[in-house]
Amino acid sequence: MPAAFASTKKMRLFDSPPAKKHTTPHRKAIPKWVDVNDEDDRIGKRKRQNVNGGLKQPQAHITPPRKKARLSGPLTPIQEQRRLLPIARGKDALVQEIRANDVTVLLGETGSGKTTQIPQYLLEAGLADSGLIGITQPRKVAATSLAARVSVEQGTPMGGRVGYSVRFDERTGPETRIKYMTDGMLTRELLGDPLLSKYAVIVIDEAHERTLRTDLLLANLKRILRERNGDAHDKGKGKQRNPLKVVIMSATLDAEKFSQFFYNAKIIYVKGRQHPVKIYHCAQGQTDYVDAALRTFFQIHVDQPPGDVLIFLPGQEDIESLEKSVELFARQLPVGHAEVVVVPMFAALQGPQMARIFTATPRGARKCILATNIAETSITIPGVRYVIDTGKSKEKRYLAGHTGGGLDTLMTRDITKSSAMQRAGRAGREGPGFCYRLYTEEAFLAMAPTAEPEILRCSLAQAILQLLCLGQDIQELDLMDAPDVDAISSALRTLFLLGALDSHRALTPLGRAMASFPLEPAHARAVIASKELACTAEVLDVVSVLAASSKLFVDATDKRAEIAEARRALVHPTGDHLTLLNTVRAYRAAGGEPEKEGDEKEKVGRSARREWARAHFVNERTLKEATSIRDQLRVSCTRAGIDWRTSCGEREEPVLLSLAHGLAQNAALIAPDGSYKQIMGQSVVKIHPGSSMADKKVPAIIYDELIYTNQIYARGVSSIPKSFFATLGAFNRREA
Ligand code: CDP
Ligand code: MG
Repeated sequence: MPAAFASTKKMRLFDSPPAKKHTTPHRKAIPKWVDVNDEDDRIGKRKRQNVNGGLKQPQAHITPPRKKARLSGPLTPIQEQRRLLPIARGKDALVQEIRANDVTVLLGETGSGKTTQIPQYLLEAGLADSGLIGITQPRKVAATSLAARVSVEQGTPMGGRVGYSVRFDERTGPETRIKYMTDGMLTRELLGDPLLSKYAVIVIDEAHERTLRTDLLLANLKRILRERNGDAHDKGKGKQRNPLKVVIMSATLDAEKFSQFFYNAKIIYVKGRQHPVKIYHCAQGQTDYVDAALRTFFQIHVDQPPGDVLIFLPGQEDIESLEKSVELFARQLPVGHAEVVVVPMFAALQGPQMARIFTATPRGARKCILATNIAETSITIPGVRYVIDTGKSKEKRYLAGHTGGGLDTLMTRDITKSSAMQRAGRAGREGPGFCYRLYTEEAFLAMAPTAEPEILRCSLAQAILQLLCLGQDIQELDLMDAPDVDAISSALRTLFLLGALDSHRALTPLGRAMASFPLEPAHARAVIASKELACTAEVLDVVSVLAASSKLFVDATDKRAEIAEARRALVHPTGDHLTLLNTVRAYRAAGGEPEKEGDEKEKVGRSARREWARAHFVNERTLKEATSIRDQLRVSCTRAGIDWRTSCGEREEPVLLSLAHGLAQNAALIAPDGSYKQIMGQSVVKIHPGSSMADKKVPAIIYDELIYTNQIYARGVSSIPKSFFATLGAFNRREA
């Protein structure tokens, strides 16, 4: 079959070398972009003039003359790599600027060394003498993998001088000076330490992504700066006992907005290293982007000189499906073609799998990296010469309900122009590169320029709950973009129904308890309910799977019958939640109970569990992650005075009732025509075909989420007795 890619013109999306009529060189689409090396074109002159015109302070532009290497001794290869990064040339000037200003906005091309080097420069310059250096990342996997890299650069073990802190996982110690963390973790730290007093420097990285948590942090940093550093006028009066430095880093051109937000903070531009990237658009739009990516990959593989290929896809499912097809086709290539090494890269990956991305491609082979937008700006992979861009990404979006609160959905959407440019840029890091866009030039031109900040499109319930614990009102907070009033009232309503707020919008003790769990309010509510209902062990098992970053059940439409057969014994008559519980428990039982870490029995257990997961089409990665989440939640339970050992044995009602306390807003009743109608909303929902409840008719259901396709589907569904509604606080409150 792959031979077809080489011989059948019809199979090809791009002629190679692409003929003029099929392709549009990028220069036409966005003038002044192709030669990204020319810094005046890219961000330089035009932007700097703007910036200078708009701001009072002079703007620094750091590209000092290349210094002759001052070597006091032989450098290890890794130190040599550090020294060769574009940012290294500006090191002294950068440190000086950061030292001189409370807030610095640092703009620089992806891969120039911002994230890995700046914290180390500041550490070496003594800026961490009075406290920690914290660096936030929007994604967990970026925080952990960058911390791993910087640990190696520092020559200390992980959790030594360099550590990380992400939800459900922390590696720091008394020696830690540099801490990589998710923006969510730093927001949580505000709860216990509103001035973030243990930090001397806080670096907000990937600020251009404008996640909800980054925005909340920026607002709080403004307050903290006022309190810790005093007003600009107070300076020099010796009042600053524990001043804070803030560095905002971004890979895109939106520096001014950040600068203005922080009273015209200084903007520094670090010149990157970018080679020209030739961009090709498809002549026609593609309906099946996974198939189009497969064909384009083999076209490159067969026709083009060596160089790794990076393919951008929206999510894990697409990545896993493309991974299988690329491997299948690669095995069938005629002899003489280079070997293909497929490397997936998405948020749910664990450390060792992540490390594969950075291992050098074996000689003569071609690496094919399948990534989500995580590879856009947060993680730079060496060796990439070709980029295939499907033009899609998954985006969180909040759908406001009519009467009840709305909900967050994850939808595959077209990317923005800014993302498309970043994706193309990944091909030109080490030499001239090529980007194949699986969409037309018209489609590119029709893309939105940049993404909307998350605060304008996400559920605010968890954020508002955390702010209330800090004594802050979201409507009075100085935010870069204020959220919509409807979104705020919808979130307040959700919190009220969950019992976190009273009718005067004041935080209740229950609300405070909910905020102490690193969980969504609905799941935290279920855990708290499990105390009274004496089923905490069971609820923790269910909730930890729901909080994991990937799905438990592997779904392959072509194997539906086979999968159903394999899982038959796990299915619980009440639906998906208890099926999930059965699965977790059967998986653990499959390996026998481990005696202690590392002993022989444990090793046998491990392979038995792996085999069990494979045979039942269950994602073992999710189960492992869920186990570690459960262990963390046990700690939170103990802290909240909940005994996590309490079990209800075989009884199902207490577990379902606990979950219903959290999911009360996601409940529906059967209508006379057999469809389900939301109780707190107007919508008619169908049960997702992948659910164990599909096609079943029961009086009432609760569900984890709604999926919007051509219909509204409920996923993660359980049947519950109608009588539950009488006992649920939410329903009593609704009437109130
Ligand atoms: O933050 P910025 O995009 O400016 O760059 P960075 O993340 O600091 O990356 C600097 C360099 O370190 C890049 O060339 C990466 O490929 C490399 N790096 C690596 O080799 N291994 C990692 N785990 C992380 C980064
Ligand atoms: Mg970075």
